[in-house]
Amino acid sequence: MLNLRGRASHVMSTTEPAALAAPPDITATEEWTALRAHLRELSEVSLRDLFDADPTRGEAFTAETDGLYLDYSKNRLTARTVELLVALARRAGLAERIEAMFRGERINVTENRPVLHVALRAPAGTRIEVDGVDVVPEVHRVLDRMSAFADTVRSGTWRGATGERITTVVNIGIGGSDLGPAMAYEALRDYSDRGIAVRFVSNVDPTDVWEATVDLDPARTLFIVASKTFTTLETLANARAARSWLTAALGEDAVSRHFVAVSTNAEKVAEFGIDTENMFEFWDWVGGRYSVGSAIGLSVMIAIGPAAFREFLAGFAALDTHFRTAPFERNLPVLLGLIGVWYRDFHGFAAHAVLPYSQYLDRFPAYLQQLDMESNGKSVDLAGRPVGTQTGPVVWGTPGTNGQHAYYQLLHQGTTIVPADFLGFVQPNHPGVGPADGPDQHALLLANFLAQTEALAFGKTAEEVAAEGVAPELVAHRTFPGDRPTNTLLAPKLTPFVLGQLIALYEHKVFTQGTVWGINSFDQWGVELGKVLAGRIVPELTGPNSPAPRHDSSTNALIRRLRGA
Ligand code: F6P
Repeated sequence: MLNLRGRASHVMSTTEPAALAAPPDITATEEWTALRAHLRELSEVSLRDLFDADPTRGEAFTAETDGLYLDYSKNRLTARTVELLVALARRAGLAERIEAMFRGERINVTENRPVLHVALRAPAGTRIEVDGVDVVPEVHRVLDRMSAFADTVRSGTWRGATGERITTVVNIGIGGSDLGPAMAYEALRDYSDRGIAVRFVSNVDPTDVWEATVDLDPARTLFIVASKTFTTLETLANARAARSWLTAALGEDAVSRHFVAVSTNAEKVAEFGIDTENMFEFWDWVGGRYSVGSAIGLSVMIAIGPAAFREFLAGFAALDTHFRTAPFERNLPVLLGLIGVWYRDFHGFAAHAVLPYSQYLDRFPAYLQQLDMESNGKSVDLAGRPVGTQTGPVVWGTPGTNGQHAYYQLLHQGTTIVPADFLGFVQPNHPGVGPADGPDQHALLLANFLAQTEALAFGKTAEEVAAEGVAPELVAHRTFPGDRPTNTLLAPKLTPFVLGQLIALYEHKVFTQGTVWGINSFDQWGVELGKVLAGRIVPELTGPNSPAPRHDSSTNALIRRLRGA
């Protein structure tokens, strides 16, 4: 029997739900106390001091896996900090929780489910059981079906109802059923078949589906309705709109050639009118925000082809193995997670920026917002007790260099400190258009990428500013405090493999933090109340005999105004 590392292991039964066991109060541990004391020791130490004291720091505080290089030297920490943070992770039971996840234990305790996105990228022959059944052959069966389908669309064998080739694929989904594929499609555009465009519709705002279809030919359009539950209001509303747009042009019989579904819910797919022969399934042990490697990635596979999609999965798998096997001190997701805990809980920094120096990663921060904030935006622990720590930060960002001309001012000189991850690539996907004219654009990009973390870390003192002859009344304005922490992630090139590594890196970072905080990173009850209230408001807004609104005075007045009453 093989485990994910291809070595012999026993297989855990997953039939028993994990108890809602109370995690230890991490703030009451000696490891937490030691970190508090250590913070005081470092309070007067700047990044300049740390770099002056150790000329090898820039190489010492680094870690690497399969070409993905992390430089975390420009953080407010020493080797002792790392030691103490790793001890905290051990105390929180991180090693045991990693194993529990990989073994398929029901660690999503509030929904009584295993958390097995790692099975989506497990090589064939790996064995991971859920309720006594090895799920890996199922994963590969669906991947094979997806591959066969993607090939028929790419080759033009799959034809629309009137015999035309498909030239546009429209993915209809929201949250994890949109952000993952939309981000990955953008990121891997360079590897995509330019003869097939992929568009994404997510918002229930009718303008979204209108804009996505207004210039399309129904005869050459394929819709993928992507929804884990197939009950999501936005997705079903958009799918209904798309179906009536299609059938108005081509008739009801065209649906089977122009609609496919990705879901865990065959019954609802059939109810909607999509033949389950045209459904690509996944499983309730895959969380929506962890699902881009499942059939939810079908639009990406059609764009880049099955072989490149498998390289994408191989990148995830390589990082999974690293997370499971590397010592915590050299484990990239563990280090990123623990550094985040250090800032969130001990320094009190409430935000975290992700700043990719790649235009192709335009949607990566938005993707990470769901991954991180829906996972770790929690206030109670696994047992339902209020947490004693801070939990997930506000995650945001956009690609550099654009942000430099917008909000970096606050990063450099504002009163709020925002730790940031800078992501860069050694080689460009494209050198530029036309023959070389002026400096290499990729070198310009990388120069900015490096300059920003240098400026954030070391700043510019008042003395340095004054020495440049700046007028005394402007010295304070032109001084940079420095000491603003960053991580630098450097990969050889943005490839499908590297994108897989990057996504898995952040998935496991989130897992590491959720474990230290003792929370369930795999449910999202916080999205439910708004859904229920919206359901109640719909009839109050529409129809001539709509009931009188019965809410608070603010909501009631707004509803009356919207109804024109
Ligand atoms: O409402 C939140 C959420 O459940 C996300 O977690 C999920 O990714 C999204 O909605 C879409 O859900 P579904 O794939 O079931 O349509």
